[in-house]
Amino acid sequence: MDVLNRLAKAGIVPVVVLEDAKDAVATANAMVAGGIDVMEITFRTAAAADSIKAVAENCPDMLVGAGTILNLEQCKLAVAMGAKFIVSPGFDAEVVGWCIENGIAVTPGCVTPTEITAAVNMGLKVIKFFPANVYGGLNAMKNLCAPFVGIKFMPTGGVNAANVREYIEAPFIHAVGGSWVCPKADIAAGNFEKITALCAEARQAAFG
Ligand code: 3PG
Repeated sequence: MDVLNRLAKAGIVPVVVLEDAKDAVATANAMVAGGIDVMEITFRTAAAADSIKAVAENCPDMLVGAGTILNLEQCKLAVAMGAKFIVSPGFDAEVVGWCIENGIAVTPGCVTPTEITAAVNMGLKVIKFFPANVYGGLNAMKNLCAPFVGIKFMPTGGVNAANVREYIEAPFIHAVGGSWVCPKADIAAGNFEKITALCAEARQAAFG
């Protein structure tokens, strides 16, 4: 199954912020145990690159990607460490172009018709929509997919167990992203059973 299909099948792409790479494998395994076998490790901390490497090397059942990729340098580093997909909060043509050339799945954040046009014209069919709760949520995406026929969104920002079903059921949603299934505090405290439970609950909320 290709990478974008793996994301759609999981339905929920955890947005994971790791302060210490030593927690990466346990976090990944906790999520797999809860039924979610994809994760985005964000380049918001110094531990991101080592965390991606640890998961890529030690968790064969987990599909690991990199998030918060702002420039080509980070993108290349993430892929070198083993990231199988790239997520960005915004649209950077250099990052998107490099990923396409190198066969790496990429979902840049696009919320305006102009940004979506740029992504579509580079051949993308799935884009991130962030922050979804600020830029109009489902109603905005529903209206945007009228001119952009066939475009699919991965919304993040404000998605949670209470509203995930509503997102997942919309025909223009590819998958959702969110941090609610892997709170930073629980990772830091080693509450990995809690992360497994949150993932299982999220899958149940999304798919019944
Ligand atoms: C992201 O980076 O995609 C968001 O910060 C995730 O948003 P959330 O914390 O509301 O899930």
